[in-house]
Amino acid sequence: MSDSLIRARGLGRRFRQPTTRLFEPKKWTTALDDTDIDVAAGSAMGVIGESGSGKSTLIRLLLGLDAPTTGTVEVDGRAVDARAGARALHWLRRRTGVVFQDPYASLDPRMSVGRIVGEPLWALGIDGDRRARVREVLTDVGLDAAMAERFPHEFSGGQRQRIALARAIVHRPDILVGDEPLSALDVTVRAQILELLRDLRRRDGLTLVLVSHDIGVVQNLCDDVVVMKDGRIVEEGPTEKVLLQPQVSYTRRLLASIPVIDPTRPGA
Ligand SMILES: Nc1ncnc2c1ncn2[C@@H]1O[C@H](COP(=O)(O)OP(=O)(O)O)[C@@H](O)[C@H]1O
Ligand SMILES: [Mg+2]
Repeated sequence: MSDSLIRARGLGRRFRQPTTRLFEPKKWTTALDDTDIDVAAGSAMGVIGESGSGKSTLIRLLLGLDAPTTGTVEVDGRAVDARAGARALHWLRRRTGVVFQDPYASLDPRMSVGRIVGEPLWALGIDGDRRARVREVLTDVGLDAAMAERFPHEFSGGQRQRIALARAIVHRPDILVGDEPLSALDVTVRAQILELLRDLRRRDGLTLVLVSHDIGVVQNLCDDVVVMKDGRIVEEGPTEKVLLQPQVSYTRRLLASIPVIDPTRPGA
């Protein structure tokens, strides 16, 4: 038994590389290899690593958006079976929200903001005054409730990422997963969204899994961090320890190569 809300054991994912010639031998890419993850309820885990190190693959497996080649994922002690189909994962959708890097790609341009944000309430069959909840969550992310009537193209990148975040939390998930959700935003907007995420953690005890290549974001938001390289975790531990006293040379190189925001200015 463990008190992990999210628990993965021996998690691995291989992808077949496309072949160009007819009798070419099959080649495989190991995107994730024999990885264990534990995220305690109410805690925040940051995931860092160079491009192609397996961060997004890990996130997709944890959310049941992709099926592992090896290993298992459990959320609150319940097996996540991505092969079982959408209906079987209803419970996991109910408990999780996800935000990706590109806010525009994840918003249907033909749908009003209100429909986009409220869609999970309908899809998950959550009762209550759905329109009121949409207005409330728009306000929570720092938008005007009247924006529900408008369309995504009318908004800036930062506003669209707020819309994406509103959609991710409208059904009050207890787990929020972000795959570089702040990367496309400028510094000011990033600071605002960061503050918002901190509030959600404080107020709602949200459990957070956050992929970011911005060390300032990880430092501000995450209790623990895992460092990935070639599909494996090469270092992990409390954020302060890993960032300030990295034990592995890869982590030291990674930290030297990625943006660092002055830690004495939280939210900067
Ligand atoms: N759908 C896919 N098909 C084939 N290869 C993939 C697929 N998704 C990821 N990969 C490969 O797996 C590795 C890890 O990718 P990814 O998890 O996206 O890394 P990161 O998010 O850290 O940049 C990369 O080599 C990538 O090319
Ligand atoms: Mg990625």
